Amino acid sequence: MKNRASLPRHFLLLLLPCAVVFTFAAATSSPNLAYPNPTVPDDCSVSDVLVPARREVYDNGRIFDVSHRYVPDTPSWDSRDGLGEFLWLGASMKNGSQANVSMMKFSVHTGTHVDAPGHVFDHYYDADFDVDTLDLEVLNGPALLVDVPRDKNITAEVMKGLNVPKGVRRVLFRTLNTDRQLMLKKEFDTSYVGLTMDGAKWLVENTDIKLIGVDYLAVAVYEEAIPIHHVLLRGRIADMLQEIILVEGLKLDGVPAGLYSVHCLPLRLMGSDGSPARCILIK
Ligand SMILES: *[C@@H]1O[C@H](CO)[C@@H](O)[C@H](O)[C@H]1NC(C)=O
Ligand SMILES: *[C@@H]1O[C@H](CO)[C@@H](O)[C@H](O)[C@H]1NC(C)=O
Ligand SMILES: *[C@@H]1O[C@H](CO)[C@@H](O)[C@H](O)[C@H]1NC(C)=O
Repeated sequence: MKNRASLPRHFLLLLLPCAVVFTFAAATSSPNLAYPNPTVPDDCSVSDVLVPARREVYDNGRIFDVSHRYVPDTPSWDSRDGLGEFLWLGASMKNGSQANVSMMKFSVHTGTHVDAPGHVFDHYYDADFDVDTLDLEVLNGPALLVDVPRDKNITAEVMKGLNVPKGVRRVLFRTLNTDRQLMLKKEFDTSYVGLTMDGAKWLVENTDIKLIGVDYLAVAVYEEAIPIHHVLLRGRIADMLQEIILVEGLKLDGVPAGLYSVHCLPLRLMGSDGSPARCILIK
C-alpha cells in the first residue's frame, strides 16, 4: 500500500502545465481554493492533459521491465536500416472506421524475443517444436542477473569465473552490449558480446542453467552463432538433456545485479521458431 504514493505524484507532474490554468480559473470563478472547479478550461486542450505514463520500473523498484520497446530504429539482424515502419493503421477513425486498428509485421526474432529449437534444427522445426511448446515453468521463476567482465565474451573461463551456483536454472547475462546500448542502435553490430563455443559447452556440461538471457539479438558470438545455438538447443528430445530456452534482446540497464523472479511470456505462435516476449523481473 505504501507504494501507491508514487502514482499521484507522477500524474501531478504531467498535469502541471494545466494545473496552473486550473488554479487560476478556480481563483477567478470561486473563492474556495480548496475545491477548484474540475472543468477543463478551454485553453487547456485534452491533448495537453492526456500524457500516458511510460515506465521502466514499477511499484517503487520492485518490478523491472526488461523488454525493449519496438520502434522503427530497433536493430534487425544483419541490417543497417533497423526494423523500419512495422506498425500501421489498417483501419482508422479519421477515415471513417468505427475504431483505430493497427497492423504489424516483423521477424519473430525482433527486439526482446525467445528462440524455439526449430529455429536452428530442421528436424525440430518439422516436428513442430515451435514457441508454443516452450515450457512456461522454465520461462518463469528464480533468476540470477550477473555482470560479465566488460572486456570479455562469455568463454568457458568467464563462465567458471561467474561462479553460478549449482541449482541456479535461469541466468541473465549483462555484458558490454548494455554499456554500448547496442539495442538502441539502428545499425546491426556484429561485434556484440555473446557465448563462445567453449563457453556454451561449459554451460551445458557444468551448470543447471535452463534459461539464458542476453542483452543483444543473439546468445552466441556472431561468427559461430548457428553452431553455438545447436549446442544450446540440441538437448530437447535427443539425450533428454536439459531444455535450454534462449531469451535474447533483453534490456538490462539500470537493474541491480542479483536474484529476481523472471517472467517471460512469448506468444503462442503455432509453427513459429521464435516470438517477441514481454519479460519482467520481480524482486
Ligand atoms: C484514432 O482514434 C481516435 C479516437 O479514439 C481518433 O480521435 C483519431 O482520429 C483516430 N486516428 C486516426 C489516424 O484515425
Ligand atoms: C486514409 O485513407 C487515405 C485514402 O485511401 C489513405 O491515403 C490514408 O493513408 C488513410 N489514412 C489512414 C490513417 O488510414
Ligand atoms: C566478442 O566477440 C566478438 C565477435 O567475435 C568480437 O568482435 C568482440 O570484440 C568480442 N568482445 C569482447 C569484449 O571481447
